Amino acid sequence: MIKLNGLLKKASRLPSSVLITGDDFRANESYKAIRTNILHLLNDSDNKSVLITSPYAGAGKTTTTSNLAITFAQLGKKVLIIDADMRKPSIHKLFSLPLSPGLSDILSGNKKGDFVHNTKFDNLHILCAGNPPDNPAELLSNEIFKNLLKENYENYDYIFVDAPPVDAVTDAVIISQLVCGTIIVIRQNHTEKDTLIRTVNRIKKVNANIVGYILNAIDYEKYSYKYGHYSGKYTKKYYNYYRSAVEKDNTTK
Ligand SMILES: Nc1ncnc2c1ncn2[C@@H]1O[C@H](COP(=O)(O)OP(=O)(O)OP(=O)(O)O)[C@@H](O)[C@H]1O
Ligand SMILES: [Mg+2]
Repeated sequence: MIKLNGLLKKASRLPSSVLITGDDFRANESYKAIRTNILHLLNDSDNKSVLITSPYAGAGKTTTTSNLAITFAQLGKKVLIIDADMRKPSIHKLFSLPLSPGLSDILSGNKKGDFVHNTKFDNLHILCAGNPPDNPAELLSNEIFKNLLKENYENYDYIFVDAPPVDAVTDAVIISQLVCGTIIVIRQNHTEKDTLIRTVNRIKKVNANIVGYILNAIDYEKYSYKYGHYSGKYTKKYYNYYRSAVEKDNTTK
Protein backbone atom coordinates (compact mmCIF):
# COMPACT_ATOMS: atom_id res chain seq x y z
CA MET A 1 0.00 0.00 0.00
CA ILE A 2 1.32 3.41 -0.91
CA LYS A 3 1.34 5.51 2.20
CA LEU A 4 1.30 8.93 0.57
CA ASN A 5 -1.66 9.78 2.67
CA GLY A 6 -2.22 13.45 2.31
CA LEU A 7 -2.52 16.01 -0.42
CA LEU A 8 -2.55 19.71 0.23
CA LYS A 9 -3.26 22.11 -2.53
CA LYS A 10 -1.22 25.22 -3.08
CA ALA A 11 -3.02 28.16 -1.56
CA SER A 12 -3.54 30.74 -4.27
CA ARG A 13 -3.59 33.70 -1.95
CA LEU A 14 -1.84 33.26 1.34
CA PRO A 15 -3.27 35.34 4.12
CA SER A 16 -0.89 36.96 6.56
CA SER A 17 -1.45 33.93 8.72
CA VAL A 18 -1.57 30.53 7.06
CA LEU A 19 -3.60 29.02 9.86
CA ILE A 20 -6.79 27.54 8.51
CA THR A 21 -10.06 29.29 9.11
CA GLY A 22 -13.57 28.04 8.51
CA ASP A 23 -13.57 29.92 5.18
CA ASP A 24 -11.19 27.74 3.23
CA PHE A 25 -13.27 24.66 2.70
CA ARG A 26 -10.76 22.82 0.53
CA ALA A 27 -7.83 23.36 2.89
CA ASN A 28 -9.99 22.32 5.84
CA GLU A 29 -11.08 19.16 4.12
CA SER A 30 -7.51 18.25 3.13
CA TYR A 31 -6.27 18.56 6.69
CA LYS A 32 -9.25 16.60 7.98
CA ALA A 33 -8.58 13.80 5.50
CA ILE A 34 -5.00 13.61 6.74
CA ARG A 35 -6.27 13.69 10.33
CA THR A 36 -8.44 10.66 9.60
CA ASN A 37 -5.40 8.77 8.32
CA ILE A 38 -3.29 9.69 11.32
CA LEU A 39 -6.05 8.71 13.75
CA HIS A 40 -6.19 5.34 12.06
CA LEU A 41 -2.43 4.85 11.85
CA LEU A 42 -1.84 5.73 15.51
CA ASN A 43 -4.89 3.91 16.79
CA ASP A 44 -2.94 1.18 18.58
CA SER A 45 -0.02 3.31 19.76
CA ASP A 46 0.64 3.84 23.47
CA ASN A 47 1.46 7.48 23.01
CA LYS A 48 0.25 9.63 20.16
CA SER A 49 3.24 11.74 19.27
CA VAL A 50 4.05 12.75 15.72
CA LEU A 51 7.16 14.33 14.25
CA ILE A 52 6.65 16.38 11.11
CA THR A 53 9.76 16.80 9.00
CA SER A 54 10.88 17.06 5.38
CA PRO A 55 13.96 16.47 3.25
CA TYR A 56 14.66 20.19 2.62
CA ALA A 57 13.78 23.47 4.26
CA GLY A 58 10.61 25.18 3.15
CA ALA A 59 8.47 22.14 2.33
CA GLY A 60 5.66 23.28 4.60
CA LYS A 61 6.45 21.51 7.90
CA THR A 62 5.46 24.34 10.18
CA THR A 63 2.30 25.15 8.24
CA THR A 64 1.31 21.48 8.19
CA THR A 65 2.12 20.91 11.87
CA SER A 66 0.08 23.92 12.93
CA ASN A 67 -2.97 23.17 10.82
CA LEU A 68 -3.03 19.48 11.61
CA ALA A 69 -2.79 20.26 15.31
CA ILE A 70 -5.73 22.66 14.97
CA THR A 71 -7.87 20.00 13.29
CA PHE A 72 -7.05 17.49 16.04
CA ALA A 73 -7.94 20.08 18.71
CA GLN A 74 -11.25 20.61 16.89
CA LEU A 75 -12.09 16.99 17.73
CA GLY A 76 -11.93 17.89 21.39
CA LYS A 77 -8.53 16.19 21.79
CA LYS A 78 -6.01 17.90 24.03
CA VAL A 79 -3.14 18.76 21.72
CA LEU A 80 0.39 20.06 22.28
CA ILE A 81 2.69 21.46 19.59
CA ILE A 82 6.39 21.43 20.48
CA ASP A 83 8.54 23.68 18.30
CA ALA A 84 11.70 21.59 18.21
CA ASP A 85 13.09 23.57 15.29
CA MET A 86 15.35 25.52 17.62
CA ARG A 87 17.55 26.58 14.69
CA LYS A 88 14.82 28.39 12.78
CA PRO A 89 11.83 28.61 15.08
CA SER A 90 8.56 29.83 13.63
CA ILE A 91 5.55 28.28 15.36
CA HIS A 92 5.52 31.24 17.78
CA LYS A 93 5.12 33.63 14.83
CA LEU A 94 2.09 31.84 13.43
CA PHE A 95 0.37 31.86 16.81
CA SER A 96 1.66 35.29 17.91
CA LEU A 97 3.43 33.93 20.99
CA PRO A 98 6.76 34.85 22.56
CA LEU A 99 9.70 32.77 21.33
CA SER A 100 11.22 32.45 24.78
CA PRO A 101 11.12 30.95 27.36
CA GLY A 102 10.63 27.66 25.61
CA LEU A 103 12.12 24.30 24.75
CA SER A 104 15.76 25.41 24.58
CA ASP A 105 15.49 26.91 28.06
CA ILE A 106 14.10 23.69 29.49
CA LEU A 107 16.66 21.50 27.74
CA SER A 108 19.62 23.62 28.73
CA GLY A 109 18.39 23.65 32.32
CA ASN A 110 18.49 27.45 32.38
CA LYS A 111 14.93 27.99 33.43
CA LYS A 112 12.49 25.85 35.29
CA GLY A 113 8.75 26.08 34.88
CA ASP A 114 5.85 25.32 32.66
CA PHE A 115 6.27 27.37 29.50
CA VAL A 116 3.33 25.90 27.62
CA HIS A 117 0.96 28.51 26.20
CA ASN A 118 -2.76 28.31 25.65
CA THR A 119 -3.91 29.49 22.23
CA LYS A 120 -7.05 31.02 20.80
CA PHE A 121 -7.94 27.50 19.64
CA ASP A 122 -9.67 25.43 22.31
CA ASN A 123 -7.62 22.39 23.40
CA LEU A 124 -4.50 23.54 21.54
CA HIS A 125 -1.36 24.29 23.56
CA ILE A 126 2.12 25.26 22.43
CA LEU A 127 5.65 24.97 23.74
CA CYS A 128 7.68 27.47 21.71
CA ALA A 129 11.30 26.86 20.74
CA GLY A 130 13.05 29.31 23.06
CA ASN A 131 16.08 31.32 22.01
CA PRO A 132 18.24 29.44 19.48
CA PRO A 133 20.93 27.53 21.39
CA ASP A 134 24.47 26.72 20.13
CA ASN A 135 23.95 22.97 20.32
CA PRO A 136 20.38 21.92 19.41
CA ALA A 137 21.28 18.35 18.45
CA GLU A 138 23.04 17.74 21.77
CA LEU A 139 20.13 19.25 23.69
CA LEU A 140 17.65 17.00 21.87
CA SER A 141 19.82 13.97 22.63
CA ASN A 142 19.79 14.42 26.36
CA GLU A 143 17.48 12.70 28.82
CA ILE A 144 15.64 15.91 29.64
CA PHE A 145 13.98 15.92 26.22
CA LYS A 146 13.03 12.26 26.49
CA ASN A 147 11.52 12.87 29.92
CA LEU A 148 9.73 15.99 28.74
CA LEU A 149 8.02 13.97 26.01
CA LYS A 150 7.16 11.19 28.47
CA GLU A 151 5.62 13.61 30.94
CA ASN A 152 3.55 15.19 28.22
CA TYR A 153 2.27 11.83 26.96
CA GLU A 154 0.33 11.78 30.23
CA ASN A 155 -1.03 15.28 29.81
CA TYR A 156 -2.00 15.39 26.12
CA ASP A 157 -3.93 13.19 23.72
CA TYR A 158 -1.73 14.17 20.77
CA ILE A 159 1.69 15.80 20.51
CA PHE A 160 2.97 17.30 17.24
CA VAL A 161 6.66 18.10 17.00
CA ASP A 162 7.91 20.57 14.38
CA ALA A 163 11.56 19.98 13.43
CA PRO A 164 14.29 21.05 11.00
CA PRO A 165 14.69 19.26 7.66
CA VAL A 166 16.49 15.91 7.65
CA ASP A 167 18.94 16.67 4.87
CA ALA A 168 20.39 19.66 6.69
CA VAL A 169 20.92 18.56 10.28
CA THR A 170 20.47 15.54 12.50
CA ASP A 171 17.81 16.95 14.86
CA ALA A 172 14.80 15.36 13.20
CA VAL A 173 16.45 11.95 13.07
CA ILE A 174 17.10 12.16 16.81
CA ILE A 175 13.49 13.10 17.50
CA SER A 176 12.14 10.40 15.18
CA GLN A 177 13.43 7.77 17.62
CA LEU A 178 11.52 9.25 20.52
CA VAL A 179 8.08 9.74 18.98
CA CYS A 180 5.63 7.15 17.87
CA GLY A 181 5.39 8.25 14.24
CA THR A 182 7.13 10.45 11.70
CA ILE A 183 5.42 12.21 8.81
CA ILE A 184 7.47 13.49 5.87
CA VAL A 185 6.24 16.56 4.02
CA ILE A 186 7.09 16.59 0.33
CA ARG A 187 6.58 19.75 -1.67
CA GLN A 188 5.75 19.74 -5.33
CA ASN A 189 8.49 21.21 -7.56
CA HIS A 190 10.74 21.43 -4.52
CA THR A 191 11.58 17.99 -3.14
CA GLU A 192 13.89 15.89 -5.29
CA LYS A 193 13.43 12.16 -5.33
CA ASP A 194 17.04 11.39 -4.38
CA THR A 195 16.87 13.63 -1.37
CA LEU A 196 13.61 12.02 -0.33
CA ILE A 197 15.22 8.58 -0.59
CA ARG A 198 18.16 9.79 1.52
CA THR A 199 15.76 11.16 4.10
CA VAL A 200 13.76 7.95 4.28
CA ASN A 201 16.97 5.93 4.64
CA ARG A 202 18.27 8.09 7.46
CA ILE A 203 15.06 7.73 9.42
CA LYS A 204 14.78 4.01 8.71
CA LYS A 205 18.38 3.48 9.80
CA VAL A 206 17.49 4.43 13.36
CA ASN A 207 14.42 2.18 13.22
CA ALA A 208 12.00 5.04 13.53
CA ASN A 209 8.45 4.62 12.30
CA ILE A 210 7.47 6.60 9.20
CA VAL A 211 3.68 6.69 9.32
CA GLY A 212 3.13 8.64 6.14
CA TYR A 213 3.90 11.29 3.58
CA ILE A 214 2.12 14.50 2.78
CA LEU A 215 2.38 15.94 -0.70
CA ASN A 216 2.09 19.66 -0.10
CA ALA A 217 1.32 22.71 -2.21
CA ILE A 218 -0.04 20.96 -5.26
CA ASP A 219 -0.81 23.44 -7.98
CA TYR A 220 -4.29 22.15 -8.84
CA GLU A 221 -5.48 25.46 -10.25
CA LYS A 222 -2.96 25.51 -13.03
CA TYR A 223 -4.37 22.30 -14.35
CA SER A 224 -7.97 22.34 -13.24
CA TYR A 225 -8.97 25.67 -14.81
CA LYS A 226 -9.29 24.31 -18.32
CA TYR A 227 -8.62 20.69 -17.67
CA GLY A 228 -10.48 19.96 -14.47
CA HIS A 229 -10.84 16.30 -15.28
CA TYR A 230 -7.08 15.98 -15.64
CA SER A 231 -6.27 17.06 -12.11
CA GLY A 232 -6.52 13.46 -10.87
CA LYS A 233 -4.13 12.38 -13.60
CA TYR A 234 -1.79 15.18 -12.70
CA THR A 235 -1.78 14.21 -9.03
CA LYS A 236 -1.10 10.63 -10.05
CA LYS A 237 1.91 11.81 -12.02
CA TYR A 238 3.35 13.26 -8.82
CA TYR A 239 2.51 10.13 -6.85
CA ASN A 240 4.39 8.16 -9.44
CA TYR A 241 7.38 10.46 -9.33
CA TYR A 242 7.81 9.83 -5.60
CA ARG A 243 6.56 6.27 -5.70
CA SER A 244 9.96 4.53 -5.77
CA ALA A 245 11.10 6.33 -2.62
CA VAL A 246 7.88 5.61 -0.80
CA GLU A 247 7.61 2.00 -1.93
CA LYS A 248 11.12 1.36 -0.70
CA ASP A 249 9.89 2.40 2.72
CA ASN A 250 6.73 0.30 2.47
CA THR A 251 8.57 -2.87 1.60
CA THR A 252 10.52 -2.64 4.84
CA LYS A 253 7.28 -2.68 6.89
N1 LIG B 1 -0.04 24.41 0.84
C1 LIG B 1 0.60 25.56 0.73
N2 LIG B 1 0.25 26.46 -0.21
C2 LIG B 1 0.91 27.63 -0.34
N3 LIG B 1 1.93 28.03 0.43
C3 LIG B 1 2.32 27.17 1.40
C4 LIG B 1 1.69 25.90 1.60
N4 LIG B 1 2.31 25.28 2.63
C5 LIG B 1 3.28 26.13 3.05
N5 LIG B 1 3.28 27.26 2.32
C6 LIG B 1 4.17 28.44 2.45
O1 LIG B 1 5.50 28.01 2.18
C7 LIG B 1 6.42 28.67 3.05
C8 LIG B 1 7.20 27.63 3.83
O2 LIG B 1 6.26 26.95 4.67
P1 LIG B 1 6.69 26.49 6.12
O3 LIG B 1 7.32 27.60 6.88
O4 LIG B 1 5.53 25.81 6.72
O5 LIG B 1 7.81 25.43 5.70
P2 LIG B 1 8.87 24.71 6.61
O6 LIG B 1 9.10 23.38 6.00
O7 LIG B 1 8.47 24.76 8.02
O8 LIG B 1 10.14 25.65 6.36
P3 LIG B 1 11.50 25.66 7.21
O9 LIG B 1 12.25 24.42 6.79
O10 LIG B 1 12.16 26.92 6.76
O11 LIG B 1 11.14 25.62 8.66
C9 LIG B 1 5.61 29.58 3.95
O12 LIG B 1 5.63 30.86 3.39
C10 LIG B 1 4.20 29.00 3.88
O13 LIG B 1 3.23 29.98 4.07
MG1 LIG C 1 9.43 25.44 9.75
